[in-house]
Amino acid sequence: MAISEDLRFLEREALEAVLAADSLDSLDAVRVAYLGKKGSLTAVLRGLASLPPEVRPEAGRVSNEVRVRIETSLEQRRRALASVEHETRIAAEAVDVTLPGRARPIGRQHVLHQIVEEITGIFLGLGYRVADGPEVELDYYNFTALNHPPDHPARALQDTFYVRDLSGDEAEVEGESDVLLRTHTSPGQVHVMETQKPPIYVIVPGKVYRRDIADPSHLPQFTQVEGLVVDEGITFGDLKGTLEHFVRGMFGPDRRVRLRPHFFPFTEPSAEVDISCGICGGTGCRSCGGEGWLEILGCGMVDPNVFGHVGIDPERYSGFAFGMGAERIAALKYGVPDLRLFVEGDTRFLHQF
Ligand code: PHE
Repeated sequence: MAISEDLRFLEREALEAVLAADSLDSLDAVRVAYLGKKGSLTAVLRGLASLPPEVRPEAGRVSNEVRVRIETSLEQRRRALASVEHETRIAAEAVDVTLPGRARPIGRQHVLHQIVEEITGIFLGLGYRVADGPEVELDYYNFTALNHPPDHPARALQDTFYVRDLSGDEAEVEGESDVLLRTHTSPGQVHVMETQKPPIYVIVPGKVYRRDIADPSHLPQFTQVEGLVVDEGITFGDLKGTLEHFVRGMFGPDRRVRLRPHFFPFTEPSAEVDISCGICGGTGCRSCGGEGWLEILGCGMVDPNVFGHVGIDPERYSGFAFGMGAERIAALKYGVPDLRLFVEGDTRFLHQF
């Protein structure tokens, strides 16, 4: 009976080891230690052959029972450990779907593009078309065809960036013209009238350049939006009504519009347009300098001399034109105190629009 006792001892030892195993790896080590090729139970089973024949059947039966119980217990433990390991892995890999996502910075259209689109959108709604012209321009288009007398101060070097400046004798060479960066979008009017016949309803947005030092209210490069209408029977009343429609669309229905007499070489009569201050409503405050009004654009009826340069009959047609700075419009609309903010590229500023 010694063999049976040894087997019972082996079984108890094995079952304890199975329960003590705390991972699938250590459980497998237990299996190898008892049931592997060199395992303790395997050794006993091999030894059966050399037992005396009378004890062999009983020893064989007991060792088989022991093997089955060890195998059963290994299998139970394996399942338990596998499910624990599975749970642990699931828990470790779990994604907390309630965590906020990682924000990706999203770009957007620059505020000046937005403003230009908003301005042109209002006029597109009135049936205007969009036109453009070159930023590098001939003196003829920027000044001469726009009725600037030769000695007009706007031609002076401090205002205009010249690309080619033919001063003195050279300037008199036939067919030669100074080349410059356009100082306004009004030369666009001339290009349009040279190539299109009335009725003309156009809006000309674009960059313009002036020899100014950047400060809160000046930029050496800025954006203008020009408007031009040429048709039969166009009056100053049409100009005023059009601008009132624009101001209400841009700044809201409560703004009042005021036209002040002004001078531009290419319009006659000319006016500057003010809107009532959005902060004080027109009574005067610090943001409008106590005036109650803010200047937003220049305008007037197209001067017959300009029609003369482009071959439009001033007896039959009349027209109006206006020009505004997009940066200034944006600054007034959003209360931006310094035009330089629009061109510095600081995303903390730009992301507000
Ligand atoms: N071109 C003028 C400027 O730059 C504005 C303007 C445009 C005035 C059209 C009258 C008509 O100041």
